[in-house]
Amino acid sequence: MTATISPHAADLGITPRDRRFGRDAATPRLWHGGRVEATAIYNALSTTFPEGEAFFVESVRAFRDGAAPRLAEEIKAFTTQEAIHSREHDAVNKRASASGYDLTKLEAQVEKRLAVTRDKPPIVSLAATMALEHFTAILAHELLADPRHLAGAERETAELWRWHAAEEIEHKGVAYDTWLHATRDWPRWKRWKLKARVMLYVTRNFVVDRTAGALELMRQDGVTGFRAWWLLLTYLWVKPGMFRKIAGAWLKFFLPGFHPWNEDDRHLLAAYDASAPAAPASRKKVRSAA
Ligand SMILES: [Fe+2]
Ligand SMILES: [Fe+2]
Repeated sequence: MTATISPHAADLGITPRDRRFGRDAATPRLWHGGRVEATAIYNALSTTFPEGEAFFVESVRAFRDGAAPRLAEEIKAFTTQEAIHSREHDAVNKRASASGYDLTKLEAQVEKRLAVTRDKPPIVSLAATMALEHFTAILAHELLADPRHLAGAERETAELWRWHAAEEIEHKGVAYDTWLHATRDWPRWKRWKLKARVMLYVTRNFVVDRTAGALELMRQDGVTGFRAWWLLLTYLWVKPGMFRKIAGAWLKFFLPGFHPWNEDDRHLLAAYDASAPAAPASRKKVRSAA
């Protein structure tokens, strides 16, 4: 396959759903079914989003000049969606802090990782974004495809994760198409080499940092040592086994001709939209917050 936008993306509009979650009542500390390890890994992930998604937006927007009109439009919608995600995860993180968690170590680690990209050329930030957006999209796919991942979770918070997952699927091609646009003059091998190196690097950091972050939050719940490792690793790799289940989709990233829309999961989006309350888009207001 050549470096063009997948036909799947052509007939898919990206519609920001400006929803707010969990503003009316306090979220229970162990919101994920009272389970320490499940709450910890989702909270650890949430901690990365406000800064991380702002970084994604910056990295993609740095290459929007000269983009085809459709890609330029998609970048705008992507920006709006990520800005709303940042806002909602900021609110989630504040609620986690209000319920007694100290997130400062986790936030410092995100900041440290992002700082590494500042000394590098902007194309490296775009590559990291494109890799992490694939990561996010395959997590999102699995989250929506298998209800066991959020089984027992507090309703509003589970809704937030489903909403975020749906929009990650919807805009999963944008960073990749921006990357194809930005590297359109590169030889294929050079493009693949950077993409593969960056994916391996961000994956290692993602797995190590989220595991460490979750263990830190579990420590704050009084669960430590072998028991903490056992609970967390079993949860991530065995049952429901999110990390194990995304391994195949992760590997596809390295195949020649990879494009996020080679996996057509629009049915998950349609199912989400059919089950979720309608949310009017309010692009202007949110874009100004981006
Ligand atoms: Fe997002
Ligand atoms: Fe995203």
